[in-house]
Amino acid sequence: MTDAHHVDSSERRDFLYVATAATGAVLTGSAVWPLVNQMNPDASVLALASIEVDVSAVEPGQQLTVQWRGKPVFIRRRTEAEIAEARAVSVDVLPDGDARNDNLSGGTPASDENRVLGSDEWLVVMGVCTHLGCVPLGDGAGDFNGWYCPCHGSHYDSSGRIRKGPAPENLHVPTSAFIADETIKLG
Ligand code: FES
Repeated sequence: MTDAHHVDSSERRDFLYVATAATGAVLTGSAVWPLVNQMNPDASVLALASIEVDVSAVEPGQQLTVQWRGKPVFIRRRTEAEIAEARAVSVDVLPDGDARNDNLSGGTPASDENRVLGSDEWLVVMGVCTHLGCVPLGDGAGDFNGWYCPCHGSHYDSSGRIRKGPAPENLHVPTSAFIADETIKLG
């Protein structure tokens, strides 16, 4: 009876240990997945310091998402309405007054003109929420017709500027340029 009791106890302890370990793994995996996902890019992508993107198929109101240096980049061709909405905003009301544009010097005001690429309609921003790094939803999402990050409720406008929620900075504009009429180079 003692042996039987001993075996039962051991099995139960083993079971509890396995169950606890499995639960811990699932919770940990869920919590860190957004960051791990962004920090674990394909090696061939990581190696590319710069990429060229053909944007000829992008119509007004559409967005292309590409991977660059292991992170998503949103390339949006904005509609006239989106442009007008972004232009109508005074920099004074913005939570982050810095353009966050790697093509310009730091401290440049966050007017829409200082965020676009080449012409009014093209906006290129990192698809990384400046709060804790989730990937925001696009296509006019959120209260300001731009992007919305559902992780903690950050709303970005049609210029990718933070307007409401915990994110401290505008979506960053990466080093980018048109190197041909319909080709954008990132990096
Ligand atoms: S990560 Fe986007 S709101 Fe927190």
